Amino acid sequence: MKKIAVVTGGTSGIGRRTVERLLNEGWSVWSLGRSEQLLQQQRDDYQHTGGFRYALCDVADAASVASAFAEIARSVEGIDALVCSAGINITGSMEEMTPEDADRLIGVNVKGPWLCSRAALPLLRKRATPSNPARIVILGSIGGMRPKAGAGVYSATKAAVHVLAGVMAVEFAPSGVTVNAVAPGTTRTPMIETAQKNASATSGFKLSGASPLGRIGEVDDVVDVIDFFLSDASKYVNGAVLPVDGGTRAAFVKS
Ligand SMILES: NC(=O)c1ccc[n+]([C@@H]2O[C@H](COP(=O)([O-])OP(=O)(O)OC[C@H]3O[C@@H](n4cnc5c(N)ncnc54)[C@H](OP(=O)(O)O)[C@@H]3O)[C@@H](O)[C@H]2O)c1
Repeated sequence: MKKIAVVTGGTSGIGRRTVERLLNEGWSVWSLGRSEQLLQQQRDDYQHTGGFRYALCDVADAASVASAFAEIARSVEGIDALVCSAGINITGSMEEMTPEDADRLIGVNVKGPWLCSRAALPLLRKRATPSNPARIVILGSIGGMRPKAGAGVYSATKAAVHVLAGVMAVEFAPSGVTVNAVAPGTTRTPMIETAQKNASATSGFKLSGASPLGRIGEVDDVVDVIDFFLSDASKYVNGAVLPVDGGTRAAFVKS
């Protein structure tokens, strides 16, 4: 039986590569996104795999999340994994940040993974077995472990989602569902390209830049760890927040 995963933010960056990786490993994958055009393009790109499905979903909107998971539930009996990669980054000092920006950040980065995990739970329960739990993997950030000036609200949303992952890990464990978070450092994706462009216009904000390993992260560095959290090797790992940052947050560097 093919394993089935749902990936939010499936049309770009870490989410898109996760979709691709899982399809190549023989999973069936539902890519969730907001742009029908991008999802259709992705369907054309991955048609040859025979396992690609998609649904429109704005993760910050409870009705949209409910409708996406209802669509999935009409098509499959259960799912093995949910990867919550949808996220946004809006930079700005605490003085400059607007309440509307803060609402958007909290809606997508905190409410989003919670709404999706909650909606996915009945489907995950159906495929969970005592020896092999179903999995939820949430994209946090090292910003949530070592907050960054100029990205205070973003950092706070990522700290919040690490906490939510821990609480869901404990609450969902009796259902045979584990929840873990991956906390990337700066990783080469469209999100970071935009942050790089905006950096000079944001007071006090600086990208972390190269890690102690001498480079920034590549998407596959992060997807390798998502893959680990979905694999048999991690079946007893629950409630972890794992930095994937080349050591960036482990100690301050004198500049
Ligand atoms: N790249 C990094 O350096 C880095 C570092 C730490 C953590 N992360 C986290 O890793 C995750 C993936 O980031 P990425 O770098 O791959 O970014 P990305 O390339 O910008 O992809 C983000 C995805 O989230 C989707 N999204 C945004 N708002 C959404 C909403 N309301 N509903 C549904 N989907 C929405 C975007 O879709 P649209 O096209 O519809 O906007 C896009 O597909 C994020 O949670 C991010 O915070 C990234």
